[in-house]
Amino acid sequence: MSLSRRAILKASGVAAVTVASGARVPEAVAQGGDPGSWEWLRGLFDLSPDTVHMSSMLLASHPRPVREAIEEHRRALDADPVRYLARNDNRLTAAARQAAGEYLGIHSSHVALTDSTTMGVGLVYTGLKLRPGDDVLTTTEDYYVTHESLRLAAERTGAAVRKIPLFERVEEASEDEIVTRIVEAVRPRTRLVALTWVHSNTGLKLPVAAVAAALREVNAERDEEDQVLLGLDAVHGFGVEDARFAELGCDFFMAGCHKWLFGPRGTGIAALSDRGLALARPSIPSFTDDAVFSAWLQEDGAPPGGNSGPRMTPGGFKPFEHIWALPEAFALHSQIGRERVAERTHVLAGALKDALSGLPNVAVRTPRDASLSAGIVSFDVEGAHPEAVVSSLRSRNIIASAAPYAVQHVRLTPSIRNSEGEIERVAAALREIV
Ligand SMILES: Cc1ncc(COP(=O)(O)O)c(C=O)c1O
Repeated sequence: MSLSRRAILKASGVAAVTVASGARVPEAVAQGGDPGSWEWLRGLFDLSPDTVHMSSMLLASHPRPVREAIEEHRRALDADPVRYLARNDNRLTAAARQAAGEYLGIHSSHVALTDSTTMGVGLVYTGLKLRPGDDVLTTTEDYYVTHESLRLAAERTGAAVRKIPLFERVEEASEDEIVTRIVEAVRPRTRLVALTWVHSNTGLKLPVAAVAAALREVNAERDEEDQVLLGLDAVHGFGVEDARFAELGCDFFMAGCHKWLFGPRGTGIAALSDRGLALARPSIPSFTDDAVFSAWLQEDGAPPGGNSGPRMTPGGFKPFEHIWALPEAFALHSQIGRERVAERTHVLAGALKDALSGLPNVAVRTPRDASLSAGIVSFDVEGAHPEAVVSSLRSRNIIASAAPYAVQHVRLTPSIRNSEGEIERVAAALREIV
């Protein structure tokens, strides 16, 4: 199918169904299933059906429209890599940035394309124009990727990094407590508050908009060069929650597209506000900002114009077929409806928490409240190491995980491609284990 035909179908909102011709037809569609139903959605994945894949927080399985787009570009690149790239790179890479911008409600000139959350967080934080003595505030609950990026940033710039706990017990965390702890820890030299939207160890979702509002009050008293900026590892809210960049109120939003969004593996984005772009600095030469190349050709040194998403996008040749298939992932989520995605994820996560709470020896760590949680459900089994519980579940064909945090929990991640039946299967397996 030609790209223009794909675009037309996408515009009509039926791409994911109609693109099927010639490819494996999902059962729900073959049987006249309801396009847009959860069963139809599950049929778009080639996931092994004997396994409960509660792994959306790790690595995506490509849904059919994404697979097909990758395959189409891969074939064309294999046939004629140089000319296919020359003819399509500008347009398709811009389309990927455009799709991400539309999804986040931000102009695509504020969006950088990355390989992953890790690359986005690392690029943005280690490139910040911090001054010696500047202060960066993060939390003890943040992930390695944020902590290590900030450590490197501090090493380069002479800024100091502080980590504060956001709660005593995550089960009892509240919006008020989180916002208060953050704002009370801000100092006159604090230039960055670096947070994670949904914590990958406990599943706690931060009230980001409320934190941003509180920081706006702090900033109202400050000169422009002393403002506190808000950075977010957003990966476990991205493709789950129905919140745009402006609603969150952050300055840096970094996320991989290869988890909850079901985008191509090895893709990610970083979105930056105006003042975020002003404080950030690229670290890897861009191939998508012509002004940088022109300045180099003319031996002008620094390129004209300010920082931008394209300028922050690392250059070099890439697995282009994956980047160029990104719009299909955003289109699929839009086709399903972002509100529905969020609601469904919360319904399934809530059902799982209820099922786990009813089991003896199981302590659910993730708050039950949907305003403080998303799709990650974390829990402990008394007397069992989280890795042992993960192994027991995997031996029963249930994919759970535990991450390398100082204190680990077991994590299950119901997403829109899971079902109520799978939640029952997980609960039954855990009943055997505990
Ligand atoms: C909070 C958090 N940030 C970043 C990552 C890494 O994401 P990526 O694979 O997109 O770099 C993970 C886990 O995979 C995570 O849990």
